[in-house]
Amino acid sequence: MRIVCVAGARPNFMKIKPVVDALDARGADTMLVHTGQHFDAAMSDVFFDELGLRPPDRHLGAGSGTHGEQTARVLVGVETLLAEEPADIVVVVGDVNSTVAASLAAAKAGCLVAHVEAGLRSRDWTMPEEVNRVVTDRLSDYLFSPSADAVENLRAEGYRDDQIHLVGNVMIDTLLANVERARRRPTLGALGVEEGAYGLITLHRPANVDDPAMLRTLTDVLGEIAKDLPLVFPVHPRTRARLAEMALAPGITLTDPMGYLDFIALEASAKVVLTDSGGVQEETSALGVACITLRENTERPVTVELGTNVVVGRDPQRIRDEARRAINDGPKPSQEIPGWDGHAGDRIADVLLRGGGPEGHVRPTDR
Ligand code: UD1
Ligand code: UDP
Repeated sequence: MRIVCVAGARPNFMKIKPVVDALDARGADTMLVHTGQHFDAAMSDVFFDELGLRPPDRHLGAGSGTHGEQTARVLVGVETLLAEEPADIVVVVGDVNSTVAASLAAAKAGCLVAHVEAGLRSRDWTMPEEVNRVVTDRLSDYLFSPSADAVENLRAEGYRDDQIHLVGNVMIDTLLANVERARRRPTLGALGVEEGAYGLITLHRPANVDDPAMLRTLTDVLGEIAKDLPLVFPVHPRTRARLAEMALAPGITLTDPMGYLDFIALEASAKVVLTDSGGVQEETSALGVACITLRENTERPVTVELGTNVVVGRDPQRIRDEARRAINDGPKPSQEIPGWDGHAGDRIADVLLRGGGPEGHVRPTDR
């Protein structure tokens, strides 16, 4: 049995690593494919180096473009690959364009499709990721969910129980495996900040950064927060050009996108994290660090219900108030999230290899 694992953009690399490792540890025949959606060294190579993710067996070189161009290049790339290297199961992770394109190619090639991070829903159809999530789940045979809310979403959409597997969170597998190593790095000193005495920012959602007026609104309020707390802002390539045209308050330190270990080191010791990232909402909850999400909704409600996340939207007053609360009072009370325990990759591999693989899996015929 051959299992092809696909990754293509920054957050995919942390998610695929525990799955590849768990499959390799069980002696499975695996192939790792990099779609090339992200390609800068700081958005791709650094994660292979720092996580010890083995080099991809194939690189599809898809690169950037419109949604149609990028999705189509991955679709053709994976279709060609599967024609040359037949696979039984194709594993896709997350919600990026590479995820939906690879799952479509795999389903048409007759492979079983396994979606890691199935069932997350923001219910915001203007988010490209929401379209990718819904379509990828529909194309998938194995639905691996990180949390009970995701399982509920899948059941409500009519997926059968034998397709749905509540396995926990692979992003947190990677976080727990690396956080102590990250804490030993000289990251804070190099940036001139001290433990618990700075904030960390990430912004890359099109709704926040593509419109200069919205980005200006957000950077203005961040500038006000920076009067009380120095802020470190590693800038995503999508955000770079727009931000370069704007003058920022002196308390905000901009950096290039960070490697995983430096970023985790900063995240773990921050007083507060202000973000629109999906993965960062999860990591801050697992680390017990206050997180303020600058979006109107989240597909990860468990980070709000049990974790440290507060979704505030883009209203400057709410952002200021919540930042002040986090600075004065620390993170809101939180609990451990069930299954976010470092073993999601193992559970996924066990399901995929159960009963000798796809022969043991009943392909859904009633969907
Ligand atoms: C993508 C995902 C998003 C995810 C994010 C993680 C989709 C629809 N979006 O958004 O869900 O949260 O990745 O970071 O799949 N660029 C570079 N170098 C790179 C990569 C991108 O310069 O290595 C620039 C390009 O100019 C490109 C822009 O960033 O046009 C956006 O890249 P793209 O992959 O299309 O979307 P992201 O905003 O990165
Ligand atoms: N991350 C990183 N360097 C950075 C910013 C983020 O290594 O400068 C990591 C972060 O720790 C998390 C992942 O990238 O593991 C989140 O990816 P991103 O925010 O790009 O995508 P999303 O999760 O929103 O899809």
